[in-house]
Amino acid sequence: MWDSLLLADMPLFPPTASVQAHQIDLLYFFLVAVTAVMTALIFAGVVFFAFKYHRTRNPRATQIEGSTKLELTWSILPFLVMLVMFWWGADLFFANAQPPKDAMEIFVTGKQWMWKIQYPDGGREINELHVPVGQPVKLTMASEDVIHSFYIPAFRVKHDVVPGHYDTLWFTPTKPGRYHLFCTEYCGTLHAGMIGWVDVLSRRDYDAWQSGGAGGRQGTLAELGQQQYEQHGCSTCHLLDQQGRCPNLRGLYKKPVLLADGRTVIADDAYIRESILDPNAKIVAGFEPGLMPVFKGQISEEGVIQIIAFIKSLAPAVPASQQGSQQPPIVLAPPGPGAASTSSSNASRTPVNSQRQ
Ligand code: CUA
Repeated sequence: MWDSLLLADMPLFPPTASVQAHQIDLLYFFLVAVTAVMTALIFAGVVFFAFKYHRTRNPRATQIEGSTKLELTWSILPFLVMLVMFWWGADLFFANAQPPKDAMEIFVTGKQWMWKIQYPDGGREINELHVPVGQPVKLTMASEDVIHSFYIPAFRVKHDVVPGHYDTLWFTPTKPGRYHLFCTEYCGTLHAGMIGWVDVLSRRDYDAWQSGGAGGRQGTLAELGQQQYEQHGCSTCHLLDQQGRCPNLRGLYKKPVLLADGRTVIADDAYIRESILDPNAKIVAGFEPGLMPVFKGQISEEGVIQIIAFIKSLAPAVPASQQGSQQPPIVLAPPGPGAASTSSSNASRTPVNSQRQ
């Protein structure tokens, strides 16, 4: 509907290509309408009173005392209008803060000066994001260095990507197409070049694209995580099939963990990330602090995302009698020569462009 507002060669608005976009546009147009009406009222008032109380008609100034009725009206009416803005904005904000359960998860790492994308199937891209149309997509975003901000105008979604923790953002694309992707937080010399494209594909095209990329892939995200897990020596203490010196990781994901200080936390992405990079931040009840080396600076954010995917894939250890077919086999894919370092990302589907890594 707003597309009709596009001028010939100078679009006033980016395309509208997500479920959120329409709702956010409506709020935006409401704000513009209120602003326009208020501006018109004030402007008309100024002009009207300038004529009505012109010096020629009123040679002597009249002192006008207050009117309670009038003052209440101009206080309460705008207050109600602003309450509508607040309620409407808060409603959209909360809806946009909570990704739906069936959202497809994609991982984004911001790094001076590029966006690195990782898919659960192990596919990787730089400055390109492929998503199927009509599918809610949740982005889990990390920064390798400074604050970046991930922005897709056509979807009307934007979120800061702050180093030190995960930020999330979600959207449901509604129209196949190719849309701009920006970094909107000044992050250094080449900030302006930290741009890319979002490709929204039909289901069929997406499946074709996904299977087409299999060649250069070195395993699923979880398999890549398992390689990281072995390479960093996690497997020597966190034994997967029996209790080692460190907490068992099977079935850990999204489960409550009792800490030494009596608190209980949920083992979500943020907790696992923190426990890898700064293991002494939260000590699991029954274990000693200082047992695990600090991995801050040793593992890239992309590597952490892979390890989390691996831990997520570890089904709880169940008695053999109840074992279902879901139990993922603990098979270590032989790490390829380039697999060790995540920064040499020749695994990405599209050729890594010439930007510095
Ligand atoms: Cu990253 Cu600006």
